[in-house]
Amino acid sequence: MNGSDIIILGIESSCDDTSAAILKNGEILSNIVAGQKVHEKFGGVVPELASRAHQQNIIPTVDTAIREAGISKKDIHAVAFTRGPGLLGSLIVGTSFAKSFALGRNIPLVEVNHMQGHILAHFIKNADANYPHFPFICMTVSGGHTQLVLVKDYFDMEILGQTLDDAAGEAFDKAAKILGLPYPGGPLIDQYAREGNPAKFQFPVSNIPDYNFSFSGLKTSILYFLQKETAKNPNFIAENLKDICASYQHTILKTLFRKLVKATREYKISDVAIAGGVSANSQLRAELEQIGKEENWRTFIPPFQYTTDNAGMIAIAGYYKFLKKEFVGQDVAADARLKF
Ligand code: KG4
Ligand code: ZN
Repeated sequence: MNGSDIIILGIESSCDDTSAAILKNGEILSNIVAGQKVHEKFGGVVPELASRAHQQNIIPTVDTAIREAGISKKDIHAVAFTRGPGLLGSLIVGTSFAKSFALGRNIPLVEVNHMQGHILAHFIKNADANYPHFPFICMTVSGGHTQLVLVKDYFDMEILGQTLDDAAGEAFDKAAKILGLPYPGGPLIDQYAREGNPAKFQFPVSNIPDYNFSFSGLKTSILYFLQKETAKNPNFIAENLKDICASYQHTILKTLFRKLVKATREYKISDVAIAGGVSANSQLRAELEQIGKEENWRTFIPPFQYTTDNAGMIAIAGYYKFLKKEFVGQDVAADARLKF
């Protein structure tokens, strides 16, 4: 350990993953994520069960992160935690833990906005030292949010557009539920879609002005479509699952990329990033590369472990705030609707 090293403990608990990470000078030493199987049988996250599971997981998760990083508690210079947005009961567990850890060790406390964390994950040190240049546009697509963000600096971000109803991840998960697939359905739709024909079935692409999105109509259209088809053929879903997944996924991606291209042209942006759980989608990643070539973008795709919720992204955001000495006091409270 070097005297000038900066070691941050990151804590993430906004939804249904309890995560702790150790970051040294912007480089990840450990990033532990404890998922919660308890929600699977309900087809979605049950907030009360999520906060209870966070309470059970938080101490062993932090302990594992510290051990795996090969450091000891006394080496940590600051604690960064997700203050919001997210589920209040879940956020309170991480926030309370971070506050007591900081108090107990007498080290600074840094609050992080979860959505900024998703975006700043692009600045976690990588072997190629390949990072987006400001200003860039990040399309953040997760289970709770769908945003086009103009990123002017680490903490100077402007939301150009967002979903007016369901998030892109919800569009995946809700369709998966209708198709009888377990939660979260996004990765399964991704998997089936790889072998399906995206042009087989047509679903409507929403036409919302500016850079906003709407996905609730799409979910209704797949519901009615499947009700109609299964009335004629009860085996319709099983016989066409791959094509349904490919066609439905194609519609979501078309909606997203149409707005992304429009925004980059309007704002004359050439560095384009994606973030959030849905950015793990293989077709989305492939299309970003493809469209990026056509549009002359430099594209930034996060490694898989930094797409879905993880504390590494909270630790890197915390690191940049630490450098600016942006600390918060013990009076800080979780905020389910935190804005940036
Ligand atoms: O960022 P995240 O882990 O949590 C939130 O902050 O919401 O995102 C979770 C979302 C879920 O809706 C999940 O279905 C979706 O990301 N997701 C995917 C894929 N992997 C995760 N959606 C499509 N394709 C994937 N491969
Ligand atoms: Zn997230």
